[in-house]
This record gives sequence, structure tokens and C-alpha cells, in this order.
Amino acid sequence: MSEKKAQLTIDGSAPIDLPIYEGSTGPDVIDVRSLVSKGIFTYDPGFVSTAACDSEITYIDGNAGILLHRGYPIEQLAQKSDFLEVCYLLLNGELPDQVARRGFENDIRYHTMVDQQIHEFFKGFPRTAHPMAMLCGVVGALSAFYHDSLDIDNPEHRQRAAIRIIAKMPTLAAMCYKHGIGQPFMYPKNSMSLAENFVHMLFGTPCDSPNVSPTIAKAVDTLFLLHADHEQNASTSTVRLAGSTGSNPYACVASGIAALWGPAHGGANEAVLDMLYEIGDDSKIEEFILKAKDKDDPFRLMGFGHRVYKNHDPRATVIRGICNDVLAELGKEDDPLFKVALKLEKIALEDEYFIERKLFPNVDFYSGIILKAIGIPTSLFTVIFATGRTPGWMAHWHEMLSESYKIGRPRQLYRGNSKRDYPG
Ligand code: SDX
Repeated sequence: MSEKKAQLTIDGSAPIDLPIYEGSTGPDVIDVRSLVSKGIFTYDPGFVSTAACDSEITYIDGNAGILLHRGYPIEQLAQKSDFLEVCYLLLNGELPDQVARRGFENDIRYHTMVDQQIHEFFKGFPRTAHPMAMLCGVVGALSAFYHDSLDIDNPEHRQRAAIRIIAKMPTLAAMCYKHGIGQPFMYPKNSMSLAENFVHMLFGTPCDSPNVSPTIAKAVDTLFLLHADHEQNASTSTVRLAGSTGSNPYACVASGIAALWGPAHGGANEAVLDMLYEIGDDSKIEEFILKAKDKDDPFRLMGFGHRVYKNHDPRATVIRGICNDVLAELGKEDDPLFKVALKLEKIALEDEYFIERKLFPNVDFYSGIILKAIGIPTSLFTVIFATGRTPGWMAHWHEMLSESYKIGRPRQLYRGNSKRDYPG
């Protein structure tokens, strides 16, 4: 670590030296761990300027709109790689050679089925259950099947758990959909790619198998790829926090799914579609822009803004392009929702309120339009986000357990009652 330091004086006290560490790129950090011994905490609700860990997996430069996975720009990965290769990259730190690629593909392929008992879990859910409620439940339940055979301190066990969860998420995601529409679950086919398999398990039936066009398969694969990881976002931080207690990885991923569900995070893609439906057509866009700017109105323009990106979200740029391809392939270029989205984006980006606050479309703004065009119901959008984000969750869980780590346990600024005696 570097010799740079910061000095903190409190009300004229002797200066407290705080080491400064430099990353390979990006902001330096001030090590404030010694402050607790001085009886003082740092204060950063929402962790806006707090580095919770070291990591080598993903780097984001929000001002420049840069997203790197193990150093590779997301735009290049979206163009030249695929979801499975990015899963391998996130977990292992390097792109696979041909042998490693084939081995990883086979590992994933032969773990896509879930224990037949899991089929029984779904019978307990009402058909109307939100798919994220089902996914959270059944992923947590997987820990009942693998807990005893798992030593989280063994890197090989961790890799196997990561492969199992990555492989099973598309199958479980499709089961959440099938349960909701009363159709039988479809088993994964080993002859198909991950994305083709997902579409097959979603839309296939024992009576009929949909032909999956290369454009649609590529769009689904790229959507998974673009959601694969995003540094220390809320759901990934949740997985790390749960993992820091030594919890079972399936339970950790279930906690990440729960955190992702919120409309401020992964639930935004569902909320964007609901918003576009509510806007309906161009004539109501101004009304919604005014609502989003009104401090007394809790409404926010869903799919806009980001904690880190104060320039464009590079993933949104890629997804916008895929939108065009999918709508053209499906003959839906005149999709009214897409037209409203394009007009909304144009108006918002010319509005001083959004410009001043650097609120740009994020990854969720366009993804929902693609999913809807493919025929995926809005309620399944965040399940698809979770499926894509699973390799990121597992890569961070694996990285944390590969190094020395402490149980995560933040402190607080206490504003409650001082000590008082019970009356009588
Ligand atoms: C994801 O962290 C990640 O990496 C997340 C993610 C990932 O891949 O894991 O990228 C995925 O979660 C993308 C974000 C999806 N969420 C949404 O699209 C929901 C709408 N966006 C907002 O809720 C909001 O922009 C957040 C939650 C995304 C970011 O909120 P911040 O960083 O806490 O920003 P803020 O609330 O402090 O807002 C700053 C200002 C405020 O106005 P002022 O008080 O300064 O006057 O901008 C305003 C906010 O009111 N603002 C918005 C707005 N987002 C922020 N105003 C209207 N519409 C919005 N969408």
C-alpha cells in the first residue's frame, strides 16, 4: 500500500494520520479504520463515498461512462464475447482459451436441471405470485440441497457452487414464468446454447418447440451479459454482506435477489414499462416530466439517473441498439412504447433539471422494451436481471472468501434516548 496519508484534526486535536491507498485506477481511498479506537465513526448514509472492499472484478468511471470487466470495456464484450464467456471472465479473471471454454460450457450445461423436489416448491405459490417472490424462495431453498456438501473455505467447492447457481438460474427463472401461466415446466436441452435454452424453457411446451431466431437469442444473451456485474451495487453488496457471515451461497444469492427487487434498483426495468404504459403517448410526456421534477411528488422518471453514472450508462447505449434490431426483426419498428421512450429520452435530455443533475437513461430504460417485444411479461423482467447478475454476485462472493475478510457490521449515529430508568 502507498505511503500517502491524510491528516484529520478534531477541534484542534493532534492530527490523526490516515493512510491513503491508490487503486490500479480510479479514486484513492482513505483508510479510516483507526478512528473507532479514537471513539469516532465516519458518517455516510447510502455509502455514497465509501469503499467497502478491495476488488479486481469490475471498474466503473461514472463521469466518463466507462464500465470494465477485468479490464475489458463492456462495449467490446457486448460486441465480441457472449454471456458464458463473461461469466468465466468474472469468476476467473481472464478470458478462457478454447479448452477452458469448452470445459466451462459443459460444466454449466450439466448443471442446468434442478432437483425434481424443487418442482414441488412451486406448487405452494399462488399462480399470481410475483416471479421475484418465487425466485427468491426457490433459490434460497437450493441451500437445503447443497448445504452439507459445501465447504465455503474450499475454492473448488466455491467454484462448483458458482457454476451450479449460474447454470440453474435460467431454469428457475423460466419455471417462475411457467408456474404463473399454468403451463408445464420445460426441461433444459443440452443441445442448445444458454440463451436458446432460456427461450425454449420460457415459450416451449410439450406440444411445441418455438424456433429461436439468432437475433432473439443474441439479444437475450447480450441482455444477460450487460447485467452480469456492476461493482458494489446494492444487491452485490448485499451478497457480500451475507457472505461475510459465512452463509450458504444459495442463501446469499437469495438475499441479493431480494435487494435487486426494489424499483430503485433492479425492479426499475419493470417500473419503466409500467411508466411507459401510463404515459401512453407523446401528449402526456410533459406531464410526467413535471411530476418527476416536483419535489412534493415521490414519482421519479424510472430508468433515469444512477448513483455512479453521471455521464451515459454504456450499457444503455448498447441496449438501445439491440432494441432497434429486435423491433426490426419482429416488424415492430412502430412499437408505440419504443416511440414514447425515444421521445421521453429526447425531452428529458434537453431539460435543465435532468441536465443539471446528470440524469441519463440507465441500463433499465430500454431493456424492458426488448423483453416485452420478445413476449416476456413485465413481471419477469427483474427475474431476467437477476439471472444476468448471478455471475457477478458469485464472482464477488468468491473473491471476498478468497482473501482475508471481516464480517460486515456498520455502525450508526445514535439519535435515540439517553439511558433512563424503568418507571416505578
Ligand atoms: C440500477 O448501483 C448500480 O450499479 C445499479 C445498477 C446495476 O447494474 O446494479 O446500475 C442497476 O439499479 C440502475 C438504476 C435503476 N433505478 C431507476 O431507474 C430508478 C430511478 N432512478 C432513481 O431512483 C435514482 O436515480 C437512483 C436510485 C438510480 C440513484 O439515486 P441517487 O444516486 O441516490 O441520487 P439522488 O436520489 O441523490 O438524486 C440526486 C437528485 C435528486 O434531486 P435533488 O434532491 O438534488 O433536487 O436527482 C434527482 C433526485 O430527486 N433524481 C431524479 C431521478 N433520479 C434522481 N429525479 C427524477 N427522476 C429520477 N429518475
